[in-house]
Amino acid sequence: MSDPALDVVEFVLTTHLYTENRDLDENDLPPRFRQVFWSDDAAEDAPGGVERPLKATDGVTRTATGVDRPWEAVSELLFTQRTDFSGEISLTQPEMALEWYVDRADDDRIGANPTIVAALADADDLDAPVTHEESRDNVRPVQADRVWIDALLDEYFDEEEDAEMLDLVNVRAPEEIETTLADLVLTGDQEGEIQKIVKAIEHREYLASIGLREIGKLLFVGPPGTGKTTVSRALAHELGLPFVEVKLSMITSQYLGETAKNVEKTFEVAKRLSPCILFIDEFDSVAKTRRSDEHAALKRAVNTLLKSIDEVSLIRDEVLLIGATNHPDQLDAAAWRRFDEIVNFPKPDRDMRADILRVVTREMEIADFDPAEVADRTSGLTGSDLRMVLREAVLGALTEDRMTITQADVMAAVEDFEERDNLKNMDMIDGEGAEVLGETGSDGQEHTHDESGDDGVHDHDHAAHGPSQD
Ligand SMILES: Nc1ncnc2c1ncn2[C@@H]1O[C@H](COP(=O)(O)OP(=O)(O)OP(=O)(O)O)[C@@H](O)[C@H]1O
Ligand SMILES: [Mg+2]
Repeated sequence: MSDPALDVVEFVLTTHLYTENRDLDENDLPPRFRQVFWSDDAAEDAPGGVERPLKATDGVTRTATGVDRPWEAVSELLFTQRTDFSGEISLTQPEMALEWYVDRADDDRIGANPTIVAALADADDLDAPVTHEESRDNVRPVQADRVWIDALLDEYFDEEEDAEMLDLVNVRAPEEIETTLADLVLTGDQEGEIQKIVKAIEHREYLASIGLREIGKLLFVGPPGTGKTTVSRALAHELGLPFVEVKLSMITSQYLGETAKNVEKTFEVAKRLSPCILFIDEFDSVAKTRRSDEHAALKRAVNTLLKSIDEVSLIRDEVLLIGATNHPDQLDAAAWRRFDEIVNFPKPDRDMRADILRVVTREMEIADFDPAEVADRTSGLTGSDLRMVLREAVLGALTEDRMTITQADVMAAVEDFEERDNLKNMDMIDGEGAEVLGETGSDGQEHTHDESGDDGVHDHDHAAHGPSQD
């Protein structure tokens, strides 16, 4: 993004080449270009598309490239012109523009623009760094764009009652997912399962051809805060797939009579958005309802759910199903049996905790930071807990007007966390609990995590928690 002229030339050149070459489709446009030209009614049978000709007006170019004054960035170049009336920037000599661009852009950048790669492949005197096919693989497919997802949902949920359904189902475009797999610390087992899924998606056709269709239903099992939701989302980001998220407890509680229908709808949405990930959180809430025999409607819903799970397939429908639960013990055999892989999300061990601390603090500067020491003192804490500890350390320092934090701040935050955790365990989270939390800098000696009481370090660190810290 550091070269405005290059950004603007790439955009104008892309609009020109795409308009000229009728063989190219939406998936030949880099997503950020595609988005500015997206039109909801470009195609009859699809949720939208890009209509030719593409015009690089000032405003559109600004949005697509992020360059504030696009024309100023390229007005000096010999091959550009601007029509004053429409504000459109265009090319007087497209070949020269292509050469100019290829001279300056690196291979990765060129390879991520299939429209330009197609033109290079056709040119006699220029070489493309990758094949057209490869460059299309580099580009996120149109089905993963927010604009496409919105257009599809609009088309699909036109009635009012359907709109309510959208409150229950949350769809994210992969571009909107912030946490990536690189931000997560996984167990070897988890990494193995993710690898399997990535491979299964890649070799879908092969698997179908040898009759292996029962693949692609995962159940993530583990206590709260161990990364089940985050890993699922990161997987969507990694694979460039839309993420369809539904909390089962919502579906089974909100509109009782509608529940079975809602479950069916959820799966339909997923199939329409496919390839995608369908994430069903709080999977155990089904089990509970299955046991209680009060509501016939709920039972129907549960049976619909089980049936829908049976009917959806990664191989056939390109829907990867991930269920998550904190209470595997409450799942009955009928639900359990439907998943082909169970992935355990345990509380992290000492080494994992140290790694999580390293990842979480990647962007922070912490004086004397010793993740191993913190890991030693935080047995029983999850990834989510550790994030909270770090946040508290940062906020604590801010209250003392410090933008730098120290190992002592972190250790003090661990202690605060233990106190808070203690309250939670005593079941006083309401009212009284809030009061006690207000007293930071308490001088109690509580060890809440008995597993971690293997040294006396935290008693010394306690002193460092006072506001006198410099
Ligand atoms: N292994 C991990 N590595 C890095 N961060 C983690 C890890 N586990 C959890 N976290 C962080 O903790 C936070 C909460 O995780 P997440 O919501 O995915 O947990 P969960 O297992 O879905 O919990 P719940 O059962 O309550 O839904 C996230 O911000 C995530 O980044
Ligand atoms: Mg979760």
